Amino acid sequence: MNARFLLCSPDHFDVTFEINPWMTTEQRPDRPSAWRQWRALVANLRAAGAEVFSYESRPGLSDMVFPTDVAVAVGRRFLRGRFRHPERRAEAAYGAAWLIGQGYEELEWPGEPDLYLEGGDTVGFGDTIVCGTGFRTSAEAARYVGVAHGVDVVSVPLVDPRFYHLDMSFCPLDGRRAICATEAWDESGQRAVAELVPEQLVITSEEALTFCANAVVVGETIVMPACPPRVRAQLEEWGFRILVSGVSEFIKAGGGIRCMSLDLDLLRRSTAQQPA
Ligand code: ARG
Repeated sequence: MNARFLLCSPDHFDVTFEINPWMTTEQRPDRPSAWRQWRALVANLRAAGAEVFSYESRPGLSDMVFPTDVAVAVGRRFLRGRFRHPERRAEAAYGAAWLIGQGYEELEWPGEPDLYLEGGDTVGFGDTIVCGTGFRTSAEAARYVGVAHGVDVVSVPLVDPRFYHLDMSFCPLDGRRAICATEAWDESGQRAVAELVPEQLVITSEEALTFCANAVVVGETIVMPACPPRVRAQLEEWGFRILVSGVSEFIKAGGGIRCMSLDLDLLRRSTAQQPA
C-alpha cells in the first residue's frame, strides 16, 4: 500500500500569534515563497512515491498548513486532535470533516475536559505508537490514543520547548532504525525508545534544530527540510536516498515537513517495513 498524506494549502498561512519558541509576529512568512516551497514539497513527496491529498486552509486559521496535528489516523479510523492552544482548536473540525468525507470512522474521546492531544506528538514505530507528552499532549491522552486505536503506546516526556512535538526529535526510518534527538526527552523516554528501537541514529540538539528529524519517509526515500553532513553520511550508508525540500517559510511558525503532512495511516508503512 502506498504512503498517503494530507497537506493543507498555505493560502492563509501566517504567523499571527506565538505559541512556540520559533514563532515571532515580527518575522512573518513571505506568502509567494511559502507557496513555492509548498508546491515543491508536494512534488517531492510524489517523486518519493507517496500519494498526496490536500485541502484548503481557512481565513483566520494561520497554522492550518500543519494538518499532522489535527488527527491520529490508524487504518481507516481516526481520533480527532484536541489542541492545547485555543488559537488552533477550530482546525480539528476541518480535518475531521475531510477524513469522514474519505470514509474514515471517527473514534470518540471520553468526557474529561483536560485531555490534550496533537498529532505531531504521535509517531508510528512498528506496531507501536510513540507519543510525546508535556508541552502539547497530556500523559492521560497519550494513554487514551492506545486504548482508542487498540495498539501499544510508548510515552516520551519532552523536556526542550524548542522541540515541543515529538516529530521534531524522532523520525522512524524502517522497522529497526530511527533518527533520535535524545536530548529532547527525559530519562524515562530515552530508556523507552532505546528498548523499542534496535538502531538509533542519535543526533545532537544542534542538528535537530535544522528540522532534519521532521521528515517524511517513503520507502527508501527520506524527504527532509535539511540534512546535516554527519546525518546524511549515516543515512546514505544505510541505503536511504535523501531529498531535501526547503521549508524555511514554515519553520518561521515552528513547523517542518512532517508537521505539514498528515500521515493517513500512522502504522501501515512502518509495519510494512519490517526487515526481511
Ligand atoms: N505553529 C504550529 C504550532 O505551534 C506548528 C505546528 C507544528 N506541528 C508539528 N507536528 N510539529 O502548533
